[in-house]
Amino acid sequence: EMDPQERAFQERIDAGIKIEPKDWMPEGYRKTLIRQISQHAHSEIVGQLPEGNWITRAPTLERKAILLAKVQDEAGHGLYLYCAAETLGVSRDQLTEQLLSGKAKYSSIFNYPTLTWADIGAIGWLVDGAAIMNQVPLQRCSFGPYSRAMIRVCKEESFHQRQGYDIMMKLCQGTPEQKAMAQDALNRWWWPSLMMFGPSDAESVHSAQSMAWKIKLNSNDELRQKFVDQTVPQAEYLGLTVPDPDLKWNEDKGGYDYGEIDWAEFFEVIKGNGPCNRERMAARVKAHEDGAWFREGLMAHAEKQAERRRN
Ligand code: 3HC
Repeated sequence: EMDPQERAFQERIDAGIKIEPKDWMPEGYRKTLIRQISQHAHSEIVGQLPEGNWITRAPTLERKAILLAKVQDEAGHGLYLYCAAETLGVSRDQLTEQLLSGKAKYSSIFNYPTLTWADIGAIGWLVDGAAIMNQVPLQRCSFGPYSRAMIRVCKEESFHQRQGYDIMMKLCQGTPEQKAMAQDALNRWWWPSLMMFGPSDAESVHSAQSMAWKIKLNSNDELRQKFVDQTVPQAEYLGLTVPDPDLKWNEDKGGYDYGEIDWAEFFEVIKGNGPCNRERMAARVKAHEDGAWFREGLMAHAEKQAERRRN
């Protein structure tokens, strides 16, 4: 039974009124927002690693400049999201500690290797495509700082997806070897991209409450279906084959039926046993340790400044 404060809160949510950091909110609302926004931020930061791997090996100067811009955008997305999480009373240091200790998650998709240049195309097209599908509804979520961060992020994501699709287009119009590279990348990134949307609705532990609080506006399976329906025609346009023998247009539902996702793989990856989990965490730990001297210098400088102001 809801107490009067919670009932008033839920009425604001139902009326589509944005909740701001200083408003009263149920502890569970605060906790799930810190969980989701911080893991979203971690995803942006860790997500720079697979693509960063190709900045020095891009095939042309133009592709290098585009990829550099995209990776820098992801860093910025991470910073907006850490700031949104901090409005809920958690510190950047706490969030960083949760990531580096393995307590916090980041998107499963970033635990897969980027083996060829075609992977950079597949990531822009599929991974950023899935991220857009998931982030567009978040622009309307009930927590003000998160929804406003998403509006800015979504503007930049559309460029990320277009440049990825353009890489795939060039490869598919290239030599047979280049087209084979594009097909190989689609084969390796298709299913992990579907897993980005999270467990099936039946398996999702947070969906019901997150949807009641308008943090999650559409269910995991609903967004996954929209992603499949939008992406399969794009693969066909490229002349590529989606690696799912069960994929078939279903006239009645006005969408594609598709094969069973390997949930064992998904849960293994989010448990830390994916192809690159250790490598990604080692890279983040090293970056944090390598940056310690700089953070300490900043703090020492700030303290000296504060000391001067006191005297
Ligand atoms: N990777 C890792 N963990 C995942 C996951 C994934 N793809 N999908 C679900 N999980 C985790 C959830 O975090 C939860 O674990 P937790 O309780 O320890 O946090 C558990 O699996 C159960 O899943 P639920 O569906 O019940 O959890 P949610 O209601 O939180 O839904 C979500 C999962 C749809 C990912 C939701 O958290 C969400 O919308 N997050 C914001 C979007 C986001 O994080 N996107 C990352 C995409 S990558 C990106 O944005 C970078 C882009 O620029 C390329």
